[in-house]
Amino acid sequence: MVNNEDKLKKIIAHSKEYGFVFQSSEIYDGLAAAYDYGQYGVELKNNIKAYWWKSMVQNHENIVGLDAAIFMHPTTWKASGHVDAFNDPMIDNKDSKKRYRADVLVEDHISKIESKIQKEVDKAAKRFGEAFDEKQFRETNPRVVQNQEKIEDIKKRLYSAMEEERLDDIKKLIEDLEIACPVSGSRNWTDVRQFNLMFSTEMGSLSEGASKIYLRPETAQGIFVNYLNIQKTGRMKIPFGIAQIGKAFRNEIVARQFIFRMREFEQMEMQFFVRPGEELKWFEYWKEQRMKWHEDMGIPSSEYRFHEHEKLAHYANAAFDIEFNFPMGFKELEGIHSRTDFDLKSHQEFSGKKIQYFDPELNESYVPYVVETSIGVDRTFLAVLTFAYTEEKLEDGSERVVMKIPPFLSPVKAAVLPLVKKDGLPEKAMEIFDTLKQDYMCFYEEKDSIGKRYRRQDAIGTPYCITVDHQTTEDNTVTIRERDSMTQERVSIDKIASIISDRLKSKK
Ligand code: GAP
Repeated sequence: MVNNEDKLKKIIAHSKEYGFVFQSSEIYDGLAAAYDYGQYGVELKNNIKAYWWKSMVQNHENIVGLDAAIFMHPTTWKASGHVDAFNDPMIDNKDSKKRYRADVLVEDHISKIESKIQKEVDKAAKRFGEAFDEKQFRETNPRVVQNQEKIEDIKKRLYSAMEEERLDDIKKLIEDLEIACPVSGSRNWTDVRQFNLMFSTEMGSLSEGASKIYLRPETAQGIFVNYLNIQKTGRMKIPFGIAQIGKAFRNEIVARQFIFRMREFEQMEMQFFVRPGEELKWFEYWKEQRMKWHEDMGIPSSEYRFHEHEKLAHYANAAFDIEFNFPMGFKELEGIHSRTDFDLKSHQEFSGKKIQYFDPELNESYVPYVVETSIGVDRTFLAVLTFAYTEEKLEDGSERVVMKIPPFLSPVKAAVLPLVKKDGLPEKAMEIFDTLKQDYMCFYEEKDSIGKRYRRQDAIGTPYCITVDHQTTEDNTVTIRERDSMTQERVSIDKIASIISDRLKSKK
């Protein structure tokens, strides 16, 4: 068993060693919070995106796709509220010179109090055994009650100060809670300042009169500004959705924890346009659908949970996150937001173009309401790696690291391995490889002992290893080794494709 802190480090090292993820520009000592996906990483990432696209677009007759440009007219970001409101409050420690998100410092403090409560609960559960009533304990134990009240009070102060942008009050809260810098240990803080998360650049040469434009911080706005184009050309009837996968950029103040929080990342977003007044019904529908998508991947449902937002974004009237149990604890993986008619109405106002839908059943026009599902490709990737990374001690005393990636997402589906490099085995193996590669990402290797080759395939999560041995040349059979159980079965060559295809079809 690997403990959680070690697990993230091990995943990072394993990702690098086996060609999943590299630090960006590593030969120049890297660029903070930017990562490159290597030969196996790109396959896994593409499989995740294909699974999402199939489930959202191909399987819904009323959802269509889009691939909008990253650069958008600068007014887009005025209309969306990002120029004025896409800020994080930041604070610097004068001694360590480290910069923090002020609200995260307070939230970390809350987590510490929550851990204290949990310790009390665990202790009591042990003491009382079967008879333990956790709810009653939480409501009556004086220390727990006092700590819970402390948390409520801190949250109230933090969220109201954030809501009303009272930056001095956020600093006062940090001082009152005696929060120290985790690096220097000092409480020597600067004032809290707002920091806009959008990257900007110049478009056009200076002589032409360049204008400031932004790298999109979310893909959603590309969907909103194309609402009319798609509704009209696709003759879409409400309710309908537009889905998009693409890069987004945020100048995150604290970018850490590997690919969990990056400055350049990829989102899979879907905006579902509905009748005003029906948004909360659709919100519930998409909440359930999206959770099912995660569970269908084959990762146990205990690794996911819903988290309701206490502080809603400027555009939302309801918001839930789907959190995943990452090595650093339960954290946001996907957001489901009821965005009201905020975005379309605002684009209507700023562009001067009427963005409305004529509903033939109601015989009236309105600006549609929107329910959004928004998930990070990179965080899904990290969730899959977190679930998959397994260290095993085998019966013969040896150890292996196996990536138990759900087979339909595995970068390589089958490795074809001749037992030895002679006696016609490589030629036979190459024949099998050439057939299978038409349908699946396959791998061919003849170097090293068969045991070493199996271990390398385990490490990248290949569900099947097909071994060609001397018997193959006599009766046209091979062995298929299954990654997780390591069992081997002898099958005839013409059955290989259907065995792989059956296994890949069942996701769980
Ligand atoms: N359009 C809504 C939107 O962008 P969000 O909660 O800010 O909502 C949606 O982002 C998802 O994008 C998150 O749940 C997360 O998976 C991913 N994401 C956001 N910021 C990220 C970052 N800096 N690095 C990696 N993924 C990120």
